[in-house]
Amino acid sequence: MSDPWKECMDHCLEVTKKAGEMVREALQKEIAVMQKSSPVDLVTETDQKVEQLIISSIKEKYPTHSFIGEESVAAGAPSVLTDNPTWIIDPIDGTTNFVHRFPFVSISIGFTVKKEIEFGIVYSCIEDKMYTARKGKGAFCNGVPIKVSGQEDISQSMVLTEMGFKNDPEQFNTMLANLKTILTLPVHGIRSPGSAAVNMCLVACGSADAYYHMGIHCWDMAGGAAVVKEAGGVIIDISGGPFDLMSRRLIVASSRAIAERIAKEITEFNVGRDDTDN
Ligand code: IPD
Repeated sequence: MSDPWKECMDHCLEVTKKAGEMVREALQKEIAVMQKSSPVDLVTETDQKVEQLIISSIKEKYPTHSFIGEESVAAGAPSVLTDNPTWIIDPIDGTTNFVHRFPFVSISIGFTVKKEIEFGIVYSCIEDKMYTARKGKGAFCNGVPIKVSGQEDISQSMVLTEMGFKNDPEQFNTMLANLKTILTLPVHGIRSPGSAAVNMCLVACGSADAYYHMGIHCWDMAGGAAVVKEAGGVIIDISGGPFDLMSRRLIVASSRAIAERIAKEITEFNVGRDDTDN
């Protein structure tokens, strides 16, 4: 059967490789840091240049497609997911890591049609790991098939989450309380690599068993969601319901048992939505 989106995925792979070179080159130079919504929400010229490179290259080939890009949205573009073929782009996922040269920095691109993710690419460009996944065709790292650990026992698991500063004291306290709850189940450990897309790929390749997060965006999730799903992982909403790409929250796990256990243990807080709050 012919694959209508294969050409888009091939093009995506080429442009992602170029973007990765741009990121690695930028790491050799001085990095000028700017603030966005808060002192811990950072952006650099490289985030903006990489997004321009990716969008212009795709637009030239596919002029009718839609885009949701982190830096375009920051500059005022809408972030509404429609049925049109849509490229959801995070030019640098892990900008804080990039600024500190902490080695988990990725380029994340997810491609949706009729709001369904068709493929995802996450390039962890310092590690030089290219994660790719096409719906129904499996997940790969540098061309080698990957799969989740299959772990079902939370007490044997490695859990990933991120713990950034939050302006809202109630959210901040809930985030800390959730960490304590998960740590005291107990689990083998909690880690915070600093890139949501890399976190999902770590679950996809079995290096971690779960990842949960409230407060990220569709561009942090789209590429990795394809990878983890195709690697046999489970993605659900923090509430335990179905995953919603625009909801700014998710639980990813190696098994439904672990995903549902995390949903049961942690307390939600309101983070808004990408399609109504931008
Ligand atoms: C960030 C990373 C980080 C997460 C933040 C995200 P960005 O993405 O995914 O892991 O904790 O919430 O904003 O801003 O570097 O693209």
